[in-house]
Amino acid sequence: MPFVRLDEVSVTYKGHGGEVEALSSVSLAAEKGEAWAVIGPSGCGKSTLLYALAGLVPPTTGSIFIGGERLLGERRETSIILQDYGLFPWKTVYENAALGLKIRHYSREEVARKTRDILIDLRLLDFKNRFPSQLSGGMRQRVALARSLTLDPDLLLMDEPFSSLDALTREELQNNLLEVRQADGLTTFLVTHSIEEAVFLGRKILVLTSRPGKIAEIVDNPGMGALDYRNRPEFHEVCSHLRHLLRKGNGDG
Ligand SMILES: Nc1ncnc2c1ncn2[C@@H]1O[C@H](COP(=O)(O)OP(=O)(O)OP(=O)(O)O)[C@@H](O)[C@H]1O
Ligand SMILES: [Mg+2]
Repeated sequence: MPFVRLDEVSVTYKGHGGEVEALSSVSLAAEKGEAWAVIGPSGCGKSTLLYALAGLVPPTTGSIFIGGERLLGERRETSIILQDYGLFPWKTVYENAALGLKIRHYSREEVARKTRDILIDLRLLDFKNRFPSQLSGGMRQRVALARSLTLDPDLLLMDEPFSSLDALTREELQNNLLEVRQADGLTTFLVTHSIEEAVFLGRKILVLTSRPGKIAEIVDNPGMGALDYRNRPEFHEVCSHLRHLLRKGNGDG
């Protein structure tokens, strides 16, 4: 049984200006531990899909199953990382990373142990007493990632987490994410605008058409997972394929 299953999921927003169909009939099946990337033109419903997976936006029609259960709202084991890090400026790196555990009333020892382990994994331990204002954008995003990972999620949802970073910092964080997610059976969905990022971090790449988002193709990317994948010919082949699909989806190819 797949870990995440979407059956014909559509989302229509009803607002002052009438109805907006954001997602149309999206079906997919993700195995446990699989890495997915979601890519498509601006406004095609990528964030909507992520919010639906988080249980924050209910499907207008269709249904979502996670771990065999129908999703009816937020679940504890799902973590979501948004584009603006969501860090508290008056809390240190350590306090920010530990926050989720504290809110959930873990014991002091457990908070300390889990937070420390993750800070080590993400090479942040040396900076644990710094405040967000004393960190680079890449480090702030690592703290946000640390906070999500301390909660031991089984599903990690990320909405363009690296888009505000410069190219090198971005690659470094992509590498970090690849390393930490391989450690256990974490299933991930990463929304991105970047073709290269989708191919580096998505074992399956969901390509959406422009609004309303429909599936253009689910691209299989078996070479994903190696740190040097960016330098391999298959990487560039998958990138070209995506570029072609996205051009077609925009109606100019
Ligand atoms: N709360 C809302 N009410 C009404 N319409 C909305 C709402 N949220 C999003 N939309 C509309 O739904 C469509 C899909 O939005 P969504 O944010 O999911 O797209 P996206 O692919 O994430 O875009 P971007 O790449 O710019 O982040 C857009 O046309 C957007 O204007
Ligand atoms: Mg978005």
